[in-house]
Amino acid sequence: MEYNTVESLETLRGEAFSEFGAIVSDTDAENFRLKYLGKKGVLRDLVKSLSSMPEEERKTFGAAANALRREVEERFAEAPWQNKAEAADPGFDPTLPGYPFQAGSLHPLAKIRGELVEILVDMGFSVAYGPDVESDYYNFQALNMPPLHPARDMQDTFYIGEKSVLRTHTSPVQIRVMEAQKPPIRIIAPGRVYRNEAISARSYCMFHQVEGLYVDENVSFADLKGTLLAFSRRFFDKNTKIKIRPSFFPFTEPSVEVDVECFLCKGKGCNICKHSGWLEILGAGMVHPNVFKACGIDTEKYTGFAFGMGIERIALLKYGIDDIRLLYENDVRFLRQF
Ligand code: PHE
Repeated sequence: MEYNTVESLETLRGEAFSEFGAIVSDTDAENFRLKYLGKKGVLRDLVKSLSSMPEEERKTFGAAANALRREVEERFAEAPWQNKAEAADPGFDPTLPGYPFQAGSLHPLAKIRGELVEILVDMGFSVAYGPDVESDYYNFQALNMPPLHPARDMQDTFYIGEKSVLRTHTSPVQIRVMEAQKPPIRIIAPGRVYRNEAISARSYCMFHQVEGLYVDENVSFADLKGTLLAFSRRFFDKNTKIKIRPSFFPFTEPSVEVDVECFLCKGKGCNICKHSGWLEILGAGMVHPNVFKACGIDTEKYTGFAFGMGIERIALLKYGIDDIRLLYENDVRFLRQF
């Protein structure tokens, strides 16, 4: 089409702006620029028509042609297609699957503690806590270990003052609960404990226990056995056997240690159970009357049992970990395995 009248310029304007509106990429833009604004572009070529026009027409046509070129140049300089280009670019596709990332996991001790607590809570115990820094009274004296009691020696205590210690077991939580609550009492107390022992593959200066305490009328040793058997069968295996051996703790009488049938070899004997078929997992017993007396609980009316188990020991056995120190080093190569 020849563009040599003012009317034809309107047609040209319509065409140019419809093409301009369709620009979405830099390539489109460059094609548009060459076609309309380049040295040989349509809008530059218009001047050629001028020579063959009568004087009067030349003026109006020339002015209209220049105005159109400037208009297109200005709109082109604003480059509005750059936003459209982003919209048309599939660089961001919200329907694509996300980037994979490394999910974290629970620490093996947290997992075992969670399982132990869940089972015991299901059985009717509620969770109680006590402080890591304890007084001599709660850690020893109220638990039937007066000053100079030989059992204090067994505990390798960290003293942090004349009368305060880092608790050597979770048993002081028993006292705190019995001071604060009246029977019936059914609590467990998970927590950290400290002992000044030489650090080795088997023992560390800090570890974790779960304490259990049940006080009510007519609580018997049979209840203790039944509770521990039911617990073991849920935690280890539904056919697990338990074995109860006499032992000694100042705060229980009688006192026992409880072994469960080795979950790996089912009692046949293996490396984990040192070929005995049994794993020692907890200490327990009937609450000593002196402990009740320290808490103002009527020893004629009430009886109770208590137990305490080491979380590390169970975690090492369950996961077949041969060095307790691995649990505290936070080496992700170790932690990722759980
Ligand atoms: N507190 C004892 C320990 O640390 C375990 C225990 C708790 C024993 C409750 C009997 C009753 O070894």
